[in-house]
Amino acid sequence: MSRAVIYQTFGDPEVLELRDVPEPHAGPGEVRVRVSVAGLNPMDWIVSSSPEAAAMFGVTAPAGFGYEFAGVVDEAGPGADGFAVGDRVYGGAMAKAAADFLVVGAPAQAPDALYRTPDGISDEVAATLPVTGLTAAAALQAIGLRAGDTVLIGGAAGGVGVFAVQLAKLAGARVIGTASEGTFDFLRQLGAEPVTYGPGLADRVRALAPDGVTAATDLFGTETVGAALALGVPPERISTIAAGPNPPGGVRATGGSDAGPADLDRITGAILAGRITVPIAATFPVEQIRDAVALQAARHTHGRILLTL
Ligand SMILES: NC(=O)c1ccc[n+]([C@@H]2O[C@H](COP(=O)([O-])OP(=O)(O)OC[C@H]3O[C@@H](n4cnc5c(N)ncnc54)[C@H](OP(=O)(O)O)[C@@H]3O)[C@@H](O)[C@H]2O)c1
Repeated sequence: MSRAVIYQTFGDPEVLELRDVPEPHAGPGEVRVRVSVAGLNPMDWIVSSSPEAAAMFGVTAPAGFGYEFAGVVDEAGPGADGFAVGDRVYGGAMAKAAADFLVVGAPAQAPDALYRTPDGISDEVAATLPVTGLTAAAALQAIGLRAGDTVLIGGAAGGVGVFAVQLAKLAGARVIGTASEGTFDFLRQLGAEPVTYGPGLADRVRALAPDGVTAATDLFGTETVGAALALGVPPERISTIAAGPNPPGGVRATGGSDAGPADLDRITGAILAGRITVPIAATFPVEQIRDAVALQAARHTHGRILLTL
């Protein structure tokens, strides 16, 4: 037997249970991963609380929980391509990650993903990359971020934000990031100039950057989109990852699937070079899954929340 977080019906964190389940095994073209760390994202509890959201990922209850993982391959089925027992790996496995063992295709089929963990990258860091690292890269690519830009980043201290801020700084941009006041020092340490979100955002940004903002990405919803449009940023230089496929104002909707392995290489390279840090807001043993999800669902996380197995 092995343990997995499962739920029988969709609902709040109380539906999540850590149960003994039969051990899965790798079939042809698959590997089994002994998971050590699972990364927690808003998507995970949005899926487990909403049948409509779950259906978009092909998930029906009862189901397992979680997407991002890091660990070690401990079984390789016949024909598993490019991976062998003992390989350190990370990736995404829809509704499977919060478990002692998961089985994933090798190669993986989207939305699942499987990558080799570079030497020097810990499992804790690797488990943050497939969703938030890639999404931050996509959010900046969608607006063609370049040196000399002044970019406004909405929700800059969250899981995606911490990567977006640092990637934008590395690209040579001036970064203004929205947060609540208690988060300002955290954002400054990442290299962003903080500004409070909420009504009057455009005026506060104008005061901080009287010469103008040239690009923006909204990692929370549409408030930053609205402020950027009000500040005269062209719609093609504004992206959002959190407003569905048709955001207002003709701005660009994007997400992690718009970035790929080359972006991961760039991010892990920057981490190994000490040019990007990966803030971990909290780490919970998987037994405390409900507490972990409740903390994340409150939406005031700075960096990432991890589960250990
Ligand atoms: N499309 C995709 O592929 C994709 C991928 C990943 C995530 N997403 C979505 O993107 C969003 C961000 O994900 P995440 O992991 O970064 O979330 P997160 O870690 O939960 O974000 C938390 C951050 O949001 C900030 N925040 C809270 N209320 C805010 C407000 N009213 N306006 C602006 N910021 C606010 C908080 O700042 P304070 O603590 O200072 O309040 C906190 O730092 C989620 O909706 C997620 O579902 C989409």
